[in-house]
Amino acid sequence: MTRYRIAASILSADFARLGEEVCQVADAGADWIHFDVMDNHYVPNLTVGPIVCAALRQHLEREHLDIPLDIHLMVRPVDQIAIEFAKAGAHIISFHPEASDHIDRTLALIRAHGCEAGLAFNPATPLHILNHVMERLDLILMMSVNPGFGGQAFIPEALNKLRAARARIDAYTQHTGREIRLEVDGGVNADNIAAIAMAGADTFVAGSAIFKQPDYRAAIQAMRCALTAAATPFKSVQAGS
Ligand code: DX5
Ligand code: ZN
Repeated sequence: MTRYRIAASILSADFARLGEEVCQVADAGADWIHFDVMDNHYVPNLTVGPIVCAALRQHLEREHLDIPLDIHLMVRPVDQIAIEFAKAGAHIISFHPEASDHIDRTLALIRAHGCEAGLAFNPATPLHILNHVMERLDLILMMSVNPGFGGQAFIPEALNKLRAARARIDAYTQHTGREIRLEVDGGVNADNIAAIAMAGADTFVAGSAIFKQPDYRAAIQAMRCALTAAATPFKSVQAGS
């Protein structure tokens, strides 16, 4: 059975209280912390870098919270900053193929520095980029909004793209026995998460759907309930019949 993960995106957190926010959301049941890195070059917004990542990692350790940091690089160039994030305590590092001159090399570099490697697809980026790099990938990050800002609406075409990516991953797993996670990012909430899971995603980034709610635990729980319902359609039908 699919193990679903919820990655809380700190882009929508209160940056004046970031350490506290990250601990609260970890304590509230988030599986991963999603850390959006924007450079005002590859995307029209500017966030934070490896210094803040290292500070959060130390803060989490002090609070005895062991939660993976899922770094989403929206920066160009990629390689040097990816290395800095690996040193700053990242677990997973994803980047956009358009931002790297040598995708295969960047994926290998991330893994060589002890992290899992992910490739992020903008809504209009074709999936054929996956053709020759599956062996190097631990995660596919499917953008369901254009990158740069939190709080945007989910782009429905992302569901078709998720289905296509899921088919590629399943064929690859069947052939090799190795799994690749499929993460969706942008406009995810408790109302649409079930449909997104049914399209094949197993990891869900949620920023405003968690941090703009008064109760983080309840917000995460609402998404988990929707996922449980999506994962057991047969039982629900039986119970209702
Ligand atoms: C957008 C970021 C997302 C963003 C998602 O470029 O990559 O991670 O924080 O925010 P919501 O969940 O509010 O759409
Ligand atoms: Zn993101």
